[in-house]
Amino acid sequence: MALRITVIGTGYLGATHAAAMAELGFEVLGLDVVPEKIEMLSAGRVPMYEPGLEEMLQRHVAGIEGSTGRLRFTTSWEEVADFGDVHFVCTNTPQKHGEYACDMTYVESAFDSLAPLLTRPVLVVGKSTVPVGSAARLAARLAELAPVGADAELAWNPEFLREGFAVDDTLHPDRIVVGVTSERAEKVLREVYAVPVGEGSPFVVTDYPTAELVKTAANSFLATKISFINAMAEVCEAADGDVAKLAEAIGHDERIGSKFLRAGIGFGGGCLPKDIRAFMARAGELGADQALTFLREVDSINMRRRGHMVELAREAVGGGSFLGKRVAVLGATFKPDSDDVRDSPALNVAGQIHLQGGQVTVFDPKGMENARRVFPTLGYAESALDAVRGADVVLHLTEWREFRELDAEALGAVAGHRIILDGRNALDPVAWREAGWTFRAMGRPTA
Ligand code: UDX
Repeated sequence: MALRITVIGTGYLGATHAAAMAELGFEVLGLDVVPEKIEMLSAGRVPMYEPGLEEMLQRHVAGIEGSTGRLRFTTSWEEVADFGDVHFVCTNTPQKHGEYACDMTYVESAFDSLAPLLTRPVLVVGKSTVPVGSAARLAARLAELAPVGADAELAWNPEFLREGFAVDDTLHPDRIVVGVTSERAEKVLREVYAVPVGEGSPFVVTDYPTAELVKTAANSFLATKISFINAMAEVCEAADGDVAKLAEAIGHDERIGSKFLRAGIGFGGGCLPKDIRAFMARAGELGADQALTFLREVDSINMRRRGHMVELAREAVGGGSFLGKRVAVLGATFKPDSDDVRDSPALNVAGQIHLQGGQVTVFDPKGMENARRVFPTLGYAESALDAVRGADVVLHLTEWREFRELDAEALGAVAGHRIILDGRNALDPVAWREAGWTFRAMGRPTA
C-alpha cells in the first residue's frame, strides 16, 4: 500500500512540502498548532505569497472542487499519529532572543507531542534546520517516548528550498540528502522521493551529523559568496572599479560560477542570517569555534552594507541630516517574489533613515502588509510612482521585476530630485541616466 504522509508544522517549508507530497501522489495530512493556519489551508489558501503554491494546494485539498482530495489538514496529534507511515517535522527554528543559537522549542515540542502516540512502526523525518547533534538526541527521545520503542525511527532530511521558487525546488530538488541509521529508513525515503530521483535528482545518503551539517554548510557557503562580492564592492568603490563587471568576469570561471555574486545591500531573510549565527554558536559548543570565525566577518560585511546604503542616501540628500528630506524606498521584502520581510535589508535601511528623521515612503509589490506590521511608523504608498512623488532621493532596495520595468521618464516627472541609488545592482544605469537621473549603484562607478 502507498505510504501515508503527515507534515507537522505548516509554515513556509511545511505547507509547500505537504502540497508537493500530494502532487507526487501521496495521501497527506498536515498538522499545525495554530488553528487559523489550518482553517486557511483547508480552504485552499496559503498564508504567504509564494508563486504557484496556492494553485498546487488547491489541486489537492479535500473539499475543493476538482481537487484530488489527497491533502487534508488538522490540529489533532491523535489523527496524525493514526494516519501516518512517514511523519515529516517541518517546524521552524528561529534565532533565540539575545543569542546566536537557534530556538529548538518548536521542534522539541513536535517530537514530545507525537512520540507518545506512536504505536506502530513509523519513520519520523526531520526537515527543520537544526544544530548538528540534534538528530541523535531526538532519535533517542523518540524511541524512549514512543510506545513502539525503537520502531519509531528517525531520519534527517534537510530542505534547501528558496523562497520564490519553493514549489519548483520541492518538486525538482537539485539534491536530496538523507541522514539515516538503517536500510529500512533509506528504503522508505527512496520510495517517498521516487519521482524526483527518477527524474535525476541525486540522492545522497549520510549519517545524522553530516545531513544536519549539509544544510548549514550550504547556507554558510552562499552567505560567504554574497559577502565576498560585497567585500569586492567595497574595494571597487575605493579603487573606482566596477563590481558588476568584476562579478561577470570571475563568474565565467566554472569553478567560481556566476550565481550569488550580485553585490548590493546584502542578504537577509529567515534563513541565511540566523543559520550562520546558529552555526557559529554550535561550533563554539563543540570546541570548533575557530573553524567558523570567518563567518563573523561574513556577517559583519553583510550588516555593513545596510549602513553603507544609509550613508549613500545621506550623501544624496546633501550630506547632512535626513531631517525634512523625503526618501522613496522601492522594496521592503528581503528578496523579490516573496512577501517575507524577516531581517530584510530593504526594511532595515528604510527604518534606519526614518529613525534619523527622514520622511520615508515605502512601496513593495507584495510585502506591504508584513512591512506595515513590523514597521508601522514608516510611510507606505500605493505604487512606485506614488512613493517617488516629491522624493529627494529614490532607493531601489529589492529587485522586483516591476521595478526593473519602471519608466524612468515618468518617475522623473514626479520626483523632487532625480537621484536614484540602486542597492541591488539590478537597474539599467544607461536608461536612468538618459532620463536625466543621477544614478548610483553600490561598487560601481558613479558616472
Ligand atoms: C536560502 C537558501 O538559498 C536556500 O537554499 C535555503 O533552503 C534557505 O535559505 P532564501 O532565504 O529563500 O534561501 O533566499 P536566497 O535566495 O538564498 O537569498 C538570500 C538573500 O541573499 C536575499 O536577501 C537576497 O537578496 C540576497 N542575495 C542573493 C544577494 O544579496 N546577492 C546574490 O547574489 C544572491
